[in-house]
Amino acid sequence: MVAGLLADVAAQRVDQVLVSGDLTMRARRAQFRAARALLDGLGVPWVSVPGNHDLPLDRVLTRGIGSAFAAPVPLKILLVHHPVFVPAARSHRLVRGVDRALRAAAAAGVDVVLCGHDHVQGHVDLALSRPDLGRHVLGIMAGTATSRRVRAGEGQSYNVLSLTDAGRLRLEVRQFRDGRFAPLLAQEWTRAPEGWREA
Ligand SMILES: [Fe+2]
Repeated sequence: MVAGLLADVAAQRVDQVLVSGDLTMRARRAQFRAARALLDGLGVPWVSVPGNHDLPLDRVLTRGIGSAFAAPVPLKILLVHHPVFVPAARSHRLVRGVDRALRAAAAAGVDVVLCGHDHVQGHVDLALSRPDLGRHVLGIMAGTATSRRVRAGEGQSYNVLSLTDAGRLRLEVRQFRDGRFAPLLAQEWTRAPEGWREA
């Protein structure tokens, strides 16, 4: 699966990899080394935020880790680990502080909030359930790319975000099945003064 992921990401010719965690199961050195080897093997700049499994109980990691940033793109992205919305396939409560964090993100002009943790893929217009955001900010959740802990009957997946020549934001979810990653679904949004609208 890891080989399939490396090959598929290379074929997508991405400029930057954003990892919403978790990188490890138990925050062990060997597990971080394996994650680092995988991410460096992608051959493009990558940045990650730590997940709850990446934090040793006696030490708190407070910043992101990664190799580098690619050239800037005209898109403001907030990368977090814990979900900022409840995907259809799951039901749970969101972490404390998410309301305040999203209001601050919207006020700062964030276009997209990327998150993970749940091992399922999903995307929403966060303003639909949070009109107080005042703008259409997108929430996009990544499934697990390589863990065998799949949930809700979903295979492993990762997301490819791109800005099209027409100025649209495009999400493609690529899922692992029959031994390789392939497109599962795609969605496009157009930019409007009040935020992102489904195309
Ligand atoms: Fe997690």
